[in-house]
Amino acid sequence: MSDLEAFISAMPKAELHLHIEGTLEPEMMMALGHRNRITLPYATIEEVEAAYRFSCLQDFLDLYYQGMSVLQTEQDFFDLTWAYLERVHAQNVTHVEIFFDPQGHTERSVAFETVLDGITGALDRAEREFGITRKLIMCFLRHLSEESGFEALKSAVAHKDRIFGVGLDSSEKGHPPSKFERLFAEAVREGFVPVAHAGEEGPPDYVHEALDLLHIDRIDHGNRALEDDGLVKRLAASQMALTVCPLSNLRLCVVDDMSHHPLRAMLQAGLRATVNSDDPAYFGGYMTENYLAVAKGLDLSRDEIVTLGRNAYLGSFLDEPEKRRSLEEFDAFCAH
Ligand code: ADE
Ligand code: ZN
Repeated sequence: MSDLEAFISAMPKAELHLHIEGTLEPEMMMALGHRNRITLPYATIEEVEAAYRFSCLQDFLDLYYQGMSVLQTEQDFFDLTWAYLERVHAQNVTHVEIFFDPQGHTERSVAFETVLDGITGALDRAEREFGITRKLIMCFLRHLSEESGFEALKSAVAHKDRIFGVGLDSSEKGHPPSKFERLFAEAVREGFVPVAHAGEEGPPDYVHEALDLLHIDRIDHGNRALEDDGLVKRLAASQMALTVCPLSNLRLCVVDDMSHHPLRAMLQAGLRATVNSDDPAYFGGYMTENYLAVAKGLDLSRDEIVTLGRNAYLGSFLDEPEKRRSLEEFDAFCAH
């Protein structure tokens, strides 16, 4: 292992873009399928892995929704979340901001509370045992209707103590942020912090809409913002964080090669870009693997890695004292 690889591995990390349903490893998918008597179209783990060749976001989403059908009970959601937290604890992740997709479960008649109790049970345990801090963000599925989104919001309002923010994910093209302007306005009135996937496959206009109509506090992905100079200036001036996902971008053909990834261009433009894993079980790596892949592909320097690592704590939704403490620990690590 090179010095830089060892540094990346040991560096304290914050993850700001992670779909908990995207941490469902093939082994667990098969095991939960058996446990819950759900038939999957795969006989072996190798067959599951062989299916993970995606040519675009929708290709992946089709398998992602099929995979989550094995998640039925509170214990399933606990096991899923705990497995993720154990993995990232071993990668020196100290803070996580996790998405979940309740509509993907309630439409299969799994209760909102079953999902929430399982996920938060594991998050509570990780906070106690590992000291991992966390925020939970409920995503609306943008391919579904506004009405369905309002149903999900109604469920979330009853659990404001455990849900910090709302996000927008799933099929981006053809489902612009404007479709959810009223839903986000209501969510913000209820006190949820808004974020949205924008500019992953969709055009820069979708990033504008997410900023101007949904009033988001952070952009998930944002790659295509780089096509619009005015937007880049705006994002640099506001220092709004972008939660960039290198291995996801490669596997979903948002970039054709890691050496062409826009992350360095983002840093050079003064954007607060961060590194995240998105759906690590589907895209071939958790936090450390994402840092390593993009560091190698772009030949990033140690200073660039430190900037990315720092940006994650700066762009997190930790409160100010927690943020200060995390940054002090991060800076102390980097000073060695
Ligand atoms: N849901 C899970 N992963 C996603 C991604 N990368 N983009 C949009 N929706 C998602
Ligand atoms: Zn995502």
